[in-house]
Amino acid sequence: MEQRVYIFDTTLRDGEQSPGASLNSDQKLAIAWQLARLGVDVIEAGFPLSSPGDFEAVQRIARQVEGPMITALARAARPDIDSVWQAVRDAERKQIHMVLSVSDIHIERKLRSNRRDVLRRGVEAVAYARSLCDQVEYSPEDAGRADPDYLYETLEAVIEAGATVVNIPDTTGYTLPNEFGALIASIRANVPNIDRALISVHCHNDLGLSTANSVAAVLNGARRVECTINGIGERAGNASLEEVVMILRTREKSLGLPTGIDTTRLAEVSALVARETGIPVQPNKAVIGANAFAHASGIHQDGVLKDKLNYEIMRPEEVGMGESRIVLSPRSGRHAFQFRLAELGYHLPEAAFARAWEEFLDLADRKKDILDRDLEEIVQSTQALFPHPLGEGRVGVVA
Ligand code: KIV
Ligand code: ZN
Repeated sequence: MEQRVYIFDTTLRDGEQSPGASLNSDQKLAIAWQLARLGVDVIEAGFPLSSPGDFEAVQRIARQVEGPMITALARAARPDIDSVWQAVRDAERKQIHMVLSVSDIHIERKLRSNRRDVLRRGVEAVAYARSLCDQVEYSPEDAGRADPDYLYETLEAVIEAGATVVNIPDTTGYTLPNEFGALIASIRANVPNIDRALISVHCHNDLGLSTANSVAAVLNGARRVECTINGIGERAGNASLEEVVMILRTREKSLGLPTGIDTTRLAEVSALVARETGIPVQPNKAVIGANAFAHASGIHQDGVLKDKLNYEIMRPEEVGMGESRIVLSPRSGRHAFQFRLAELGYHLPEAAFARAWEEFLDLADRKKDILDRDLEEIVQSTQALFPHPLGEGRVGVVA
């Protein structure tokens, strides 16, 4: 089995389904170029039948963005499939992606159909898509809540009809990592022709488990992960690309499953997507949040100043985040305070430092953000009480 994981980015399709995130064709193209530079293997550029604007966006991406395979979403119906094909056909590498429900909940309550008819429709759609394109991905929607036996039957039939990728979606973010991992293992054990298709996964984050479920799937044989920048997407979003990629990178020694992503570009692409969609990244977001490499408590700051390894499992430069930060707060320790003063060029004698520390603690209890200007004022005031020479010996205020 292949010992690497392919990254399928669906920021421009599922990600764009986030409420309020819609993107025009220029914005989509700009993001697609950055995704290509990032090194994603597949870009899902949109849902062409949904609007003429989205068709145009997918087509421009297919014609202009080199490197990744370009795909777009279709329902299992000829007009959708034709629309995807027209939109992606000029890409260097292209794929038709189609979705059709597999859970009884969806079959009965959404499609108002039955298993037999749905299966027949899926098989026909795959065969038609394969008559147009060599690469066809089939997503049995809501697989996470489906009857496994019917899921196996569906996968076997669509692979037989020509699907080259079977994507297992946990559409509602319902499964637990052990269950989802076991589902992938059971698909490998129970679908006789599974070795003719690549297994992909697509996990939603309704219970905050999308990344964990994706990794569990990879550990059980999935080799493609569908994910989005910043984890945006329908409802609570999709598995976050940066989290999945950095888990595989940070734990590569034990997992042995690298990706082709240039991780040093992650922060830049994350900022672009946040700006263009208008969906900000929460500060405590794993990997690329503003606080992901910020240390605020005295114990942690002291540890990091002695050796970053004490509290950092990744280097901020690896994800393009610049440097770790020491943030001054009432929970900061003397070591961090002294470090920050030194960074600003202040080296106070002991008595002046003790006084400055007291003033700092008093201010930090009252003020949320301690700015460099505040530190400068503190240093000035101690200088009045404990006069000390400037310049030579680097004592006092250094301009
Ligand atoms: O969540 C889902 O099931 C999807 C499919 C189109 C893969 O987005
Ligand atoms: Zn989805």
